[in-house]
Amino acid sequence: MEILQLADYQIVIGDFWKNFHDFLKENNYAKIFILLDDNTEEHCFLRFKEHFLIEKTRTICIRPGELHKNLQTSQYVWQSLFDGGCDRKSSLFINLGGGVIGDMGGFCASTFKRGIDFIQIPTTLLSMVDSSIGGKLGIDFYDVKNSIGVFANPKKVFISTEFLTTLSQREVRSGFAEIFKHALIQDAEQWYNLLTINDLASVNWDTYIVPSLKIKQRIVEIDPFEKGLRKALNYGHTIGHAIESMALATKNPLTHGEAIAIGMICEAYLSKILRGMPDSDLKDITDFVLKHYGKYDIQFCDNQQLITLMKQDKKNESDAINFSLLNKAGDVAVNCTASIDLIVESLGYYRGL
Ligand SMILES: NC(=O)c1ccc[n+]([C@@H]2O[C@H](COP(=O)([O-])OP(=O)(O)OC[C@H]3O[C@@H](n4cnc5c(N)ncnc54)[C@H](O)[C@@H]3O)[C@@H](O)[C@H]2O)c1
Repeated sequence: MEILQLADYQIVIGDFWKNFHDFLKENNYAKIFILLDDNTEEHCFLRFKEHFLIEKTRTICIRPGELHKNLQTSQYVWQSLFDGGCDRKSSLFINLGGGVIGDMGGFCASTFKRGIDFIQIPTTLLSMVDSSIGGKLGIDFYDVKNSIGVFANPKKVFISTEFLTTLSQREVRSGFAEIFKHALIQDAEQWYNLLTINDLASVNWDTYIVPSLKIKQRIVEIDPFEKGLRKALNYGHTIGHAIESMALATKNPLTHGEAIAIGMICEAYLSKILRGMPDSDLKDITDFVLKHYGKYDIQFCDNQQLITLMKQDKKNESDAINFSLLNKAGDVAVNCTASIDLIVESLGYYRGL
């Protein structure tokens, strides 16, 4: 078991059932609400039923996926809290799921009656290494990802890799994108370790989760409200989020990690041109992403629409599109800007691979 202590909450990794029981015992909440989606209800909540008494627990189950991370679902969650008699003093809200559940559930909990206690129990690799910590909560609005939200911290985060056993390989691969992004922005040694991975199905994720979390922990502790350094975490996300938003409107949406992986190739290209990142790093990043993710046909992405979406990015100041780019593997630069022509060129680099 390992505990990471942040300013006002802990992340507890391992020995899940005991730690979770202890937490409930210490706090003695009168009512517990658990937010789930259809998949985490089937695969994860079942295990809860085996381990603890659920008489004071009410579940709120929603449909899975990014398409449902919206105002309509949030309204359903708030209604369920009202109907269940949730009050601010004695209720606990549990997010049992991936980043969609964690982001939206945390948002609903921290705005309901000006905020009720909530905890994060991430069940995807992505939410274990990334979205469950750092306090960014929110929903998508007007086709713009995470455009409505708040910063608020959970009471605790409990991480247990036992939930990963039912996760599809596609979703594992999605989470892996945030693991190698963390290495690329802050830990060159870890990046060179990751480069040796050939088969994601045979990786022991316990080895990678804590180092990856520690990178995010360091960054969010220095800059909790994204005034500067925290923007580093957005490497790959300016272009990646725009692609993810456009893919959502198609019959075959990309996962968050798949879109960000494409974004990381394009932004590696920008890094080479604008930050002098070595050619060898661009080659490593490109080959690595293609090895694990293959090449996507991004025909559905019209350049102009992508640029319009990028202009809505929360990181932007005035009219310039803001990027976090790499000086080299393990060394990031925030607050970079790129011309529209160069952004289009970087998309052309990906399309031409
Ligand atoms: N707040 C942040 O700092 C932050 C950081 C990165 C990403 N995000 C957000 O996270 C979201 C993506 O998270 P995600 O990739 O976890 O997506 P997700 O929550 O949609 O989960 C992916 C899929 O896996 C299923 N699933 C979850 N756990 C499972 C399990 N144990 N077994 C079987 N199936 C399971 C879900 O039902 C879903 O279908 C995006 O909305 C992204 O914007 C937030």
